[in-house]
This record gives sequence, structure tokens and C-alpha cells, in this order.
Amino acid sequence: MSGPVAVSKYDPFARLLHWLVVLLLVAQYVVAWTMPGIHRGTRPEGLIVVHLDLGVFIIAIMIVRVLWRIVRKEPDVVEGTAFTRGIAYLTHGLLYLLLIVQPLMGWANASSRGWQVTLAGVDMPALAPKGSAIGHTLGDAHQLFAWVMLVLIGMHVAAALYHHFVLRDRVLRRMA
Ligand code: HEM
Ligand code: HEM
Repeated sequence: MSGPVAVSKYDPFARLLHWLVVLLLVAQYVVAWTMPGIHRGTRPEGLIVVHLDLGVFIIAIMIVRVLWRIVRKEPDVVEGTAFTRGIAYLTHGLLYLLLIVQPLMGWANASSRGWQVTLAGVDMPALAPKGSAIGHTLGDAHQLFAWVMLVLIGMHVAAALYHHFVLRDRVLRRMA
């Protein structure tokens, strides 16, 4: 959306949030794939706690990011066709949605295991009752959607690199 004054880049705070979430997600996937397998009776310790803490932190950052997305000024939209802009808009929207729903599903699963979830040491409420079927199901969905999100991220990164190296437009630079 172009306001009265066209902006050529995402603002510094939007860029900071974008790259901060990228870093947090890279760490989160590495931790998720490295942590011990989680089974009935597994105790939340070590890398599992790191996974929970990082995930809740991602939710907190995403809340700030959504609010900033609402109030900030958009860069001028001059790149791409209506079609590719539509795909980008859809992908970004899905990423925003998944970046909030995905950690919430993990949180609900943690709650159903009776694990206390904390943010900066402060106890957070349980999102599902202990032993609940819904918490169990959301845990399965959490594992599935980790892959769905990864596919979207893959498309997104491929698009960014395609813009930069093939189309040679400003799309990548305005987030850099
Ligand atoms: C965007 C943030 C997150 C991502 C990308 C993510 C990713 C993953 C992945 C890939 C797994 C599967 C690990 C495996 O295959 O062994 C997993 C499992 C799990 N995650 Fe997350 N996670 C996120 C946030 C959270 C949060 C916030 C919590 C809890 C507060 C959480 C709790 C769990 C639990 C309990 C499991 C085990 C699920 C089960 O085996 O039933 N995750 N996560
Ligand atoms: C964890 C991986 C990533 C996620 C979840 C992610 C998510 C997002 C989201 C939600 C947006 C929309 C921006 C907004 O309106 O606030 C965005 C924009 C953007 N991202 Fe990413 N991103 C990731 C990785 C990357 C990487 C690795 C690159 C570069 C190779 C990149 C390049 C861009 C660019 C250039 C834009 C702006 C696109 C435009 O102006 O239309 N992203 N990203």
C-alpha cells in the first residue's frame, strides 16, 4: 500500500523483527531435531526446556510483529506482477498465521503433558487440560505443521533468491 510518501524499504524495526524470527526459527528447528524424543512420562529438561522457552519467545515476538504490521507504513509496492504479489501476500499471511498457531499447538501439547510453560521465568497458563485428547491431537498437528511451515519457508526463500539473482529487482534489498 503506498501512502502519501513512497517508502522504498521495510522500516528498520520490521527488518529487525524479520531477521530475529529467522534466527529464532533456525535455532528452534535445530533444537527440535536434536532434543530427546518425547514420550509419555518424558520429563521436561535440557533441550526440551530450550524448545519450550524459544517457542514461547517466538509467540511473544510475533505478537509485537503483528501489531507493528498493523501500524507501520508499507514499502511502495512496485515489484512483481499482480499474480506474484498475490502469491507473496498469501505466503506472508500464512507464515504470520503459522508462526503463531504452530507454537500455540506445541504449548497445548506441553500443557497436556502436565508441563509448566514459562516466559522469562514467569509461569504461563496451561492451554489444554492434563492428559486431554485435544492436547495430544494438537501435538500431532504440531509435528505435521512444522513441515508445512518449512515448505512455505522454502518457497519464500526461493522466491526471495529468484527476485534477487534472476529478476534482479529490489525485493530482497528492501528486507535487507
Ligand atoms: C515456531 C515455533 C516452533 C517450532 C518450529 C517447533 C517445531 C517442532 C518440531 C519440528 C517438533 C518435532 C520434533 C521431532 O520430530 O522429534 C516439535 C515437537 C514438540 N514441540 Fe515444538 N516447535 C515450536 C514451538 C513449540 C512451543 C512453543 C512448544 C511448547 C511451549 C513446543 C512444544 C513441543 C512439544 C511438546 C513437542 C513434542 C510433540 C510430540 O511429540 O507430541 N513447541 N516442535
Ligand atoms: C524462517 C524463515 C523466514 C520466515 C518465517 C519469513 C517470513 C517473512 C514474512 C512473514 C514476510 C512478510 C513481511 C511483513 O510483511 O512483515 C517476509 C518478507 C520477506 N522476506 Fe522473509 N522469512 C524468512 C526467511 C527469509 C529469508 C532467508 C530471506 C532471504 C533470502 C527472506 C526474504 C524476505 C524478503 C525479501 C521479504 C520482503 C518481500 C516483499 O517485499 O514482498 N526471508 N518474510
